[in-house]
Amino acid sequence: MKDDRSDRYISLVEDALIEYLKDQRIPPTLREAMLYSVQAGGKRLRPCLTLATCEMVGGNVEDALPLACGIEMIHTYSLIHDDLPCIDNDDMRRGKPSNHKKFGEATAVLAGDGLLTYAFQIMLRAAKKTQNRNYINAISAIANGAGVWGVVAGQIEDKAHEKDPNAGEKELLDIHSRKTGALITSALIAGAYTGYPTQDELSAVLDFGEIYGVLFQITDDILDVEGDEKLLGKSIGKDGASGKLTYPKLYGMSESRRMAVEAAVKAKHALDIFGERAKYLYQIVDYTIGRKA
Ligand code: IPE
Ligand code: IPE
Ligand code: MG
Ligand code: MG
Ligand code: MG
Repeated sequence: MKDDRSDRYISLVEDALIEYLKDQRIPPTLREAMLYSVQAGGKRLRPCLTLATCEMVGGNVEDALPLACGIEMIHTYSLIHDDLPCIDNDDMRRGKPSNHKKFGEATAVLAGDGLLTYAFQIMLRAAKKTQNRNYINAISAIANGAGVWGVVAGQIEDKAHEKDPNAGEKELLDIHSRKTGALITSALIAGAYTGYPTQDELSAVLDFGEIYGVLFQITDDILDVEGDEKLLGKSIGKDGASGKLTYPKLYGMSESRRMAVEAAVKAKHALDIFGERAKYLYQIVDYTIGRKA
């Protein structure tokens, strides 16, 4: 994601995130822990997807910015909690000690809770100011993707099927589309809602999100096997060690790579109705297939 458009989106999002996290009503230790993980880095993929989809349907990036920031906060909370000893027990995240390693488990749990809740505060504050009636649909899509139908559901299934010899294709797709696909899809849908999408455009974005979101997690699984820890900013080899249900575990590496490429082709096709306007999302798909971080 090294291109002018991503740079523009990332700089808008990072400036706004810092601004939001200046709020002095947040107790200092909590604010420090929230900022630590948000500022640690990360690709900012989901907010880029939100802003790009907004522009793709003719919306104004400024309107989508609070949603993009909210989604990045939600994503960051999900990483903090994912790394806890009771979930994936990971010591490194975004090239730094994970939140609980730096601040302790109690603070890490609360920093995650804080980011999740604060995300909805800032998105709803923006909703109250806008004339766009679709804004509430955007926030609703984000809640659906983040919560008990999406990320939280996927995370509990991911834990439930660790070392499960009976889990197969169906469980794998369900875990990946919920724990990762759902928030990515919401990021895209939320962006689309800030413009004035037609029903056909919305359903094309939804189809794209569902395929691309799973594709993103397939590449995450592959990188856990053969990635470079320094580039990734997190430990590798953890999925195998904990018996996670992943694409490489179920299909092997070369078949997983083939499935990722197949999904990339399908994902791009889902955006056919946008033609040239989908160029940035096509680039994101290509980048994802070859990504090292
Ligand atoms: C990591 O997401 C967790 C998954 C859903 C695979 P990213 O790879 O987007 O993490 P950051 O935001 O760049 O740190
Ligand atoms: C995480 O999946 C999905 C989340 C909801 C955070 P992983 O557990 O594979 O993500 P990493 O590899 O720790 O980033
Ligand atoms: Mg996990
Ligand atoms: Mg993990
Ligand atoms: Mg992983």
